Amino acid sequence: MRLEICVAQVERRLADGGLYFGHGTDNAFDEAVWLALAAIELDAGADQIPWQKTLTDTEQAQVEALLARRIRTRRPLAYLINQAWFAGHEFFVDERVIVPRSHLGEWIVGCFAPWLAGQPIASILDLGTGSGCIAIALAHAFPAARVDASDLSSDALAVAAINTRRHDIVDRVRLLRSNLFTGLAGQRYDLIVCNPPYVSDAIMGGLPDEYSYEPALAFAGGSEGLDFIDSLLREARTHLTDEGTLVVEAGSAKAAVEAAWPQVSFTWLTSLNGESVVFLLGAQELQQYRW
Ligand SMILES: C[S@@+](CC[C@H](N)C(=O)[O-])C[C@H]1O[C@@H](n2cnc3c(N)ncnc32)[C@H](O)[C@@H]1O
Repeated sequence: MRLEICVAQVERRLADGGLYFGHGTDNAFDEAVWLALAAIELDAGADQIPWQKTLTDTEQAQVEALLARRIRTRRPLAYLINQAWFAGHEFFVDERVIVPRSHLGEWIVGCFAPWLAGQPIASILDLGTGSGCIAIALAHAFPAARVDASDLSSDALAVAAINTRRHDIVDRVRLLRSNLFTGLAGQRYDLIVCNPPYVSDAIMGGLPDEYSYEPALAFAGGSEGLDFIDSLLREARTHLTDEGTLVVEAGSAKAAVEAAWPQVSFTWLTSLNGESVVFLLGAQELQQYRW
C-alpha cells in the first residue's frame, strides 16, 4: 500500500471514530499524516512527504497499531508518540504537561511584529511554562535574550528540562519553580508571555475525553476562568521593565476578561485563523489601571 492511500484510510477511520482534534492538529487529515509518519518513523517536519512510498507489511501493522490505540483510548497522539510541534520546533511531551498548541506560537515566530518592533528585548519570562515550548521558542526567536521559564508544577519543569537539553539551550533558558510571581521576587522583564489556566468551571465539566489525559492544573481557571489572570494582571507591572510588555492568551475566557475590566483597552491580536484571544498590554497601561 502506498503512503497516500494509507493516510486516506487513516483519515477516514479517525473521522469516523468520533475523536476530538485539537491537540497539535485541528482536523482528521493532518492528524492522519502525523500518525502515519510517526508510526513508520518518518520525519513529520520534513519539507517533502514521500506520498508514493510503498509501505511494508510491518509498517502497515505499525500504523494500524498506533491508530487503534488512538481510537480506543482517546489519548492525544502527542502523548502516544511523545512528540509535539510548536512554532516550528519539535518538543518531547508526556502527560505531565499539556500538549503545546497555544495561539502564541505564530506571534513568537514573528517576534510579535509589529507590536514589539524596535523594542530591545533582553529579558523574557514565560510564566506557566509547561513543556517549556513557549520559553524555548522565544529563546530561538530572540537569540540575544535570556529567558526565565517558571511553573508551579515540578512535573512540568522536569519535562521542560528535557526540552531545554534537547534544544541545547540550557544556558539561555532558566527553569524556576514558582507559584505565579512568588518565586520571582525582584525580577523584571522586557517581555512577559503567559498561556495561563483560563478554563471556567462550566467548560471544564464538558471537555472532550482527550483532555482528561492532560494535567487539570494547566486548565482550571475557577468559576469564570479568571483566577490566574486576575492575579497576573495585578502583579505583572512590578515584574516588567518601564517599557516592558505583557502578552497573555485568554482563550475561552476572553469575554470574561472584557466583562471584568471594561475600562481597559486590551490590544487583541488576531491570529491567522481569525481568532482574537491573545491580548497585549504595556507596562504603562498596567500602571494606569486599578486591577
Ligand atoms: C495552559 S498551561 C500552558 C503550558 C505551556 N506554556 C503551553 O503553552 O503549552 C498553564 C501552565 O501553568 C501552570 N500553572 C498553573 N497554575 C500555576 C501557578 N499558580 N503558578 C505558576 N504556574 C502555574 C500549569 O502547571 C501549566 O503548565
